Amino acid sequence: MRYIDVAVLGATGAVGQKFITLLENHPWFRVREVVASSRSAGKRYREAVTWIQNAPIPETVAGLTVRSLEDTLESGVLFSGLDSVVAGDAEQSYAEQGYLVISNSRNHRMDPRVPLVIPEINPEHLRLVDLQPWRGAIVTNPNCSTMFLAMALAPLHRAFGLRAVQVTTLQALSGAGYPGLPALGVMGNVIPYIDGEEEKIETETLKILGEPGEYGVNPASVRVAAQCTRVPVVDGHTETVSVQLQQPATVEEVRSVMESFRGMPQIQGLPFAPRQPLWIFDAADRPQPARDLQVENGMATLVGRLRPCPVLDYRMVLLGHNTVRGAAGAAILNAETIVHLGYLKEGRFDRQGCVDEPAAAYCVGA
Ligand SMILES: NC(=O)c1ccc[n+]([C@@H]2O[C@H](COP(=O)([O-])OP(=O)(O)OC[C@H]3O[C@@H](n4cnc5c(N)ncnc54)[C@H](OP(=O)(O)O)[C@@H]3O)[C@@H](O)[C@H]2O)c1
Repeated sequence: MRYIDVAVLGATGAVGQKFITLLENHPWFRVREVVASSRSAGKRYREAVTWIQNAPIPETVAGLTVRSLEDTLESGVLFSGLDSVVAGDAEQSYAEQGYLVISNSRNHRMDPRVPLVIPEINPEHLRLVDLQPWRGAIVTNPNCSTMFLAMALAPLHRAFGLRAVQVTTLQALSGAGYPGLPALGVMGNVIPYIDGEEEKIETETLKILGEPGEYGVNPASVRVAAQCTRVPVVDGHTETVSVQLQQPATVEEVRSVMESFRGMPQIQGLPFAPRQPLWIFDAADRPQPARDLQVENGMATLVGRLRPCPVLDYRMVLLGHNTVRGAAGAAILNAETIVHLGYLKEGRFDRQGCVDEPAAAYCVGA
């Protein structure tokens, strides 16, 4: 297979850098172009970026000249880690021009015409691209905290039905981008508010667990309450979650459907698919951001302390890598799914892709 040329929008930011790191040596995609603001445009990437990854800048990218949003791009697939202030208009303009935009930004996620996809859960939502009036298309992945919550809830919702969910997040600093929050504001501190985050979790989760209809997704009928906090952890969002089920289930049954949950990316063996999407920890003091984030190269959702809840039915602790599975890695897995389903021809978006089976046909364990 020939490489598919891709561009990274917002390439100098925290998510953009993660795209560049994760795409190095990807078997299908090659970063051909990098795009950022007019502050960076015209410079070599290595000069424009404040590099915050542990691995060095890939040689193939370091020397690229940063493009601006006004430039025409050669790549047909654009991974977007753009600041949400500009992402809405910029991504739509690219879609109008025929590009496939795979976005991390919040702007289009709740547009009824735009798929909000986690391929293990709802690959059939990709059909929503048929509602988009553009030559190209926009496909989104969820907010980083929603990602891990939805991944844990999906098998429970399928097997037992969910009635209510309560989640409190402890979100890492890298979720606020670079340079992010001032050190004096966060060190030794917990900030009990993240602008817009609770609304995103409460709405995006229902869209992901919902059923696609004629005019968009009919959201799942589950009550979700979220409280979000920022904590002085570099990477890794922790979430404490309680769920109420529609049908009774033992703790062993709850554990079993989560542990055996597999979706389309696992069954099709996509390159970025975690072998096991949900990892259940038995040790009472795990998972921890400083110890466990690298499980499945950051693509798994880690579950600990699964036990009965005296208020709702069951409670647990979730952990996930916010810039990998919560952002760039999620978008790359979406792109692999899109390629697998035939939505690209010669590296360009082609609406004739074929989602011929509902997600349920792929799901094991739920
Ligand atoms: N961090 C996470 O964990 C995470 C997780 C999920 C989703 N997201 C979403 O992903 C997006 C990027 O987040 P981030 O954390 O990577 O933010 P960031 O570190 O602040 O990076 C923002 C990027 O957008 C570019 N940009 C800003 N203004 C621009 C303009 N006017 N024109 C063109 N480019 C512009 C910046 O380029 P310059 O360097 O040239 O200014 C930079 O490359 C956001 O929408 C965020 O909500 C982030």
